[in-house]
Amino acid sequence: WVSWTLTCYSILLLYSRTRRTETFLLTMIAYILFTVLAVLPVLLFWKNPYIMSDLKFAMTVLHIGIKYSKITRKFYSILDCFMEKVSEHPQKTFLVFEGSSYTYSQADKESNKVARALLTHANLKEGDTVALFLGNEPYYVWTWLGLAKLGCVSSLLNYNIRSKSLIHCFSCCEAKVVITSAELCGAIEEVLPTLREQGIRVFVLSEKSDVEGIESLSDKIQQASDQPLSPQLRANVNLKSPMLYIYTSGTTGLPKAAVINHGKVWRASFLQYMIGVQSSDVIYLYLPLYHTAGFLMGFSGAIERGLTIVLRRKFSVSNFWADCRKDNVTVIQYIGEIMRYLCNTPKRDNDKDHKVRLAFGNGIRGDTWNDFLDRFGNIRICECYGATESNIGFVNYVGKVGAIGKEHFLHKRSYPYALIRYDTEKEEPVRDARGFCIEVPEGETGLLVSKIGEQTPFSGYAKNKQQTEKKKLKDVFVKGDLYFNSGDLLRINEGFVYFQDRIGDTFRWKGENVATTEVADHLLAVDFVEEANVYGVKVPGHEGRIGMAALKLKENMDFEAKSIYDHVKYFLPSYARPRFIRIQDSVAVTGTFKQLKVKLAEEGFNPNIIKDPLFFLDDSKGYIPMTKEIFDSILEGTLKL
Ligand SMILES: *[C@@H]1O[C@H](CO)[C@@H](O)[C@H](O)[C@H]1NC(C)=O
Repeated sequence: WVSWTLTCYSILLLYSRTRRTETFLLTMIAYILFTVLAVLPVLLFWKNPYIMSDLKFAMTVLHIGIKYSKITRKFYSILDCFMEKVSEHPQKTFLVFEGSSYTYSQADKESNKVARALLTHANLKEGDTVALFLGNEPYYVWTWLGLAKLGCVSSLLNYNIRSKSLIHCFSCCEAKVVITSAELCGAIEEVLPTLREQGIRVFVLSEKSDVEGIESLSDKIQQASDQPLSPQLRANVNLKSPMLYIYTSGTTGLPKAAVINHGKVWRASFLQYMIGVQSSDVIYLYLPLYHTAGFLMGFSGAIERGLTIVLRRKFSVSNFWADCRKDNVTVIQYIGEIMRYLCNTPKRDNDKDHKVRLAFGNGIRGDTWNDFLDRFGNIRICECYGATESNIGFVNYVGKVGAIGKEHFLHKRSYPYALIRYDTEKEEPVRDARGFCIEVPEGETGLLVSKIGEQTPFSGYAKNKQQTEKKKLKDVFVKGDLYFNSGDLLRINEGFVYFQDRIGDTFRWKGENVATTEVADHLLAVDFVEEANVYGVKVPGHEGRIGMAALKLKENMDFEAKSIYDHVKYFLPSYARPRFIRIQDSVAVTGTFKQLKVKLAEEGFNPNIIKDPLFFLDDSKGYIPMTKEIFDSILEGTLKL
């Protein structure tokens, strides 16, 4: 650019020496024109330093848009995409698992066998739902592929749930068949009478079964042919047909089955493409396949890219990097507290010795982000935001520390969204005199809502009209419009999107909103704190909730009341300081490594109930051990909070 501009200038300079007036005038005009052209990129760059990334991202998004519109015109499923990859590179490794590896062609054949066994022995037909009650293992993948080949819907059950919740999950999706593994069969046996009453057939992935009502499947798979199945078996499947049910746990109540149709599978699977994953990459997949992050973002995204997948049964902090090294992993996924766990391990000399170049996921906090880069080297971190059932997502494609996404004009055009003012006390959006919601100004926290439309549908929860309706918000900006209520409080600053809190997590104290993640961030900055879980607890006779924190301390370190008090006092306004601190050996997390708060909040701050070390913030003395006397005087109201 610079050399081109200089050349133009020198040519003009030669011309401007002539005496003829019209030539001189023309030269001057050209001068001005070139100057504007030369300065424009500098100006643009000054206005937006991310312009190159923005343009590159826009190109990718446009490309995906074209691809998706092709899919909408002539239906093509993620299974078709898989089969295409099989014919493109049959001998490429598709899956690596516990020392064994399987090529694309082998995966295709294995899934043909599963499909044939199920076709013959379970009488499955297009549109039937089959529940998978399996841990991460190759048969999870073969079975799912096999079911897709039959045009069946897979219901991805969380294998940690038992009894009543398990039965509830079956009735949500109306599964006809359940497939489980030998290790998990016990949990199914517990509910077998109910399953049999409902006419649900149970298959176990083993050679034989001695339990009445549980049929073996492995022997049937071995006997089945690996020849391709006719596409006629799934002829009626289209973009709107459900492909999966994925259960979202939420913080309370029974799991809800989000309906994931083929359109949604595609939109989620494009994430890896969007953030620059290439077909030569190797992805490490340890997140449970029964969740959106593992299945859609990780697994089916990898199929879309035609990757090699290194599958692991479960997350293991001690084997993480060894696994990555052994199998030449280049892309990792993270969620919730995972990145912190990795940073909390003892430092090693070979921390930077690996091929990982990209990490994507959701939930990394700012301080961990910096620690991680320092520790493990030059890895591009791509923080993304989205939820299983939601119709909106953000991607922080420029790696701005702390942000969950970057706004993009193309994105805003195709996915209309807004942050609206929210009343945490009444737990509902604030409405103006005419009854409409109010968009918050830039920099202020608001509830994310996104418009429900043809391109941005919300498929809701299976057999749960009430919960589905609860996620919809009507008459938001004009009469009759319909938005999806994300339940997340976000903030947008200079085009970057920041996560503030979940609706239920933010609490109010003394008329002020307290964002639990923000308080936790400050507590984590204290040197002896390894993990921090912040929540609000009810105090009799007081409005709102008062702050409490459950902390896990670093190994061989003690709770130092003075240093944490000094820190909290300096960084947090009085209403946001945790009034109670509870020390735990471990901080409880969900299957997706998100912290559990509800149970802790219910336990409150009663020293008669809580056996963990408990501290109380005394305004004059700082953190002191909580006693029965303090507890009683709080209840009596003699001790003012
Ligand atoms: C990993 O890469 C190295 C060097 O490129 C190669 O020698 C090795 O075979 C690879 N390992 C696997 C499991 O692909």
